[in-house]
Amino acid sequence: MSAELNHLRIGIPSKGRLSELATDLLIQAGLNFRRQDRSLFARVSSIPAEITFLRTDDIPTLCAEGAIDLGITGSDLIEEAGADVVVRMKLGVGRCRLAICVPTTGNIQDPSELKGKRVATSFPNTTERYLKQHDAPVHLVKLNGSVEVMISLGVADAIVDLVETGSTLAANQLRILTEIGQYETVLIQSPNCRDSATADRIVRRLEGVVIARDYSLLEYNIPRDKLAAAEAITPGFTSPTVTSLENNSWCAVRAMVKRSDIIPIMEKLELLGALAILETSINNCRL
Ligand code: PRP
Repeated sequence: MSAELNHLRIGIPSKGRLSELATDLLIQAGLNFRRQDRSLFARVSSIPAEITFLRTDDIPTLCAEGAIDLGITGSDLIEEAGADVVVRMKLGVGRCRLAICVPTTGNIQDPSELKGKRVATSFPNTTERYLKQHDAPVHLVKLNGSVEVMISLGVADAIVDLVETGSTLAANQLRILTEIGQYETVLIQSPNCRDSATADRIVRRLEGVVIARDYSLLEYNIPRDKLAAAEAITPGFTSPTVTSLENNSWCAVRAMVKRSDIIPIMEKLELLGALAILETSINNCRL
């Protein structure tokens, strides 16, 4: 199958964890597609768009060049490529840090002490920029992966790598000397997008899913004289919905609440005197 010239092109990673995350997100947003064998393209049903499967680190450059109109990639890779793209939205996944890491046994305390030393990384541009700002020009060892073993292989004195949970560092007896930046998975748009209306429609669909993943719907009954205090605890996305109950001294409240805050909020409401506190997941929303 080949590309349709007038269809909006969405570039997503062709393999790995980010490929699965991007596929799930697009399908949940109603952008259904099926990749045949190892084809580079897949047509999206019911919208004039198609998916292009690419290397994650090529997506920023291809989007800047207009080969794809939208792309899902890491903000770390956009910075490294220096790509001129518009970040349309954060996708709420893939949060990580880029850090300079050194052996736990060494006594380097400051990035300036790396002057003239060997630093292995797959982020040479971001690393060089950061270390120049800290007056520490280094000898860069540019690699495409397995950077964490380069100190024990004797190839480098320090590394610059992504850190998510920190378990890779711990397994290799490394510690963070300093953080260069914080990154996450984002949706980007080309400055030369061939169909902005369809791009906006896709962004709205993805927003619906990403916001829904972050929030729950909380419902509870509260004595009317405690309503103001309860509303302060659950102000909602815009404002909570309040309805009267048969018993006039009580009312029912419904509000969106950040999923990560749900337990402490339920505890606060219970202490305030709320009853029948229910949490419901949201699959999709338009706000
Ligand atoms: C990344 C990164 C680290 C690891 C950090 O590698 O390069 O090696 O994740 O994660 P942690 O802090 O949770 O251990 P990735 O798995 O993306 O593969 P890579 O070797 O191709 O970089």
